[in-house]
Amino acid sequence: MKARQIVEEMDSYVPGRSQDEIAQDFGLKKEDIIKLGSNENPWGPSPKALKAIEEEMSAINRYPESQLHELVEEIAKYSDVDTSQVIVGGDGADEIIDVLAKTFIDNGDEFIVPLPSYMYYEYLLKQYGAKPVYARWDLDENRLDVDSIYEKISPKTKMIFLCSPNNPTGTLIEKETLREIASKNPEILIVIDEAYFEYSEVTNKDLIDEFDNIFIIRTMSKVLGLAGMRIGYGLACSQIIEYMHRIKPVFSLTRLSFVAALNTFRDSEYIESSIKRGIESRQYLYDEVSKIDGLYVFPSKSNFMLIRVKDTGFTASELAHELMKRGVIVRDCTSFKGLDEYWIRISICTLEEDERFIEILKEVLS
Ligand SMILES: Cc1ncc(COP(=O)(O)O)c(C=O)c1O
Repeated sequence: MKARQIVEEMDSYVPGRSQDEIAQDFGLKKEDIIKLGSNENPWGPSPKALKAIEEEMSAINRYPESQLHELVEEIAKYSDVDTSQVIVGGDGADEIIDVLAKTFIDNGDEFIVPLPSYMYYEYLLKQYGAKPVYARWDLDENRLDVDSIYEKISPKTKMIFLCSPNNPTGTLIEKETLREIASKNPEILIVIDEAYFEYSEVTNKDLIDEFDNIFIIRTMSKVLGLAGMRIGYGLACSQIIEYMHRIKPVFSLTRLSFVAALNTFRDSEYIESSIKRGIESRQYLYDEVSKIDGLYVFPSKSNFMLIRVKDTGFTASELAHELMKRGVIVRDCTSFKGLDEYWIRISICTLEEDERFIEILKEVLS
């Protein structure tokens, strides 16, 4: 039995490794493993979300809400937009990207991604017959090479993905640059991925009132501490949102995810403290890694940072393997297009874990 042509040609996506996998592979205790590989919130979810999940458990024999009104209202309030400008997804921001693709992509369309960036855009859009066209991040200058985007625009370009702060570089894109790209290309959807915007304390959500070709991606997997519940949302003009609602999976947000999301947005103390602690951890890791010979670390506006390891004599996979043996998970970026085999990405942890990580890193490199 043959699959669709595109499926025959596709490779599986390579996600960050989990604590369970590493515990099993290296004979370690799961609770001793420090996970700096997937840009999560290391302080756990909001206690209010946990309580709400417990209370909702006995109702899981019933289908979830399909309209999600209460949650849409909370998101609109949190994002300072109108409820008609919000869509919620139940497999995280990844579902939002999938619904965007289903709504706008025709076979043969092109989309532009400056590399390196989040690889899931390509993984999803290819499934709908779209072709990735690569622009570039200037890694020497640590900024988006805007001209490389203009050079790649063709009559077939349907979307441009701009991640800000960018995963994995941690770099912001200037609002003026986004405005310029959107205004010069009214027929192209400019998708701004703000999965990590809270850590940068900058948002471009005001651009959705100015432009009907801007879409903002957001997630509850990062600062909001709900990666395991898989909740994402998108912000755009109401016409885009209305099109997307026509084809979005109706029950993708489970009852438990719904109440977890609702109660996290209502817990502003938790959100503020997650941002504050995340920024402190980022600063600590940046300062300490910068002092280690042979490592070059990018300054970051996110909850992770990109590190060049070439001068240590290790490749990224060798270094990641050595760290894993000692119970530390980092992201080996070898599978990221636009990077060679000498880059790893680390994300924030509790200060205690950060200190242990730095100790282990020094031990491996010495
Ligand atoms: C830039 C970026 N966008 C989107 C996502 C997807 O997030 P979610 O967990 O909500 O699917 C991620 C996850 O790591 C990400 O790094």
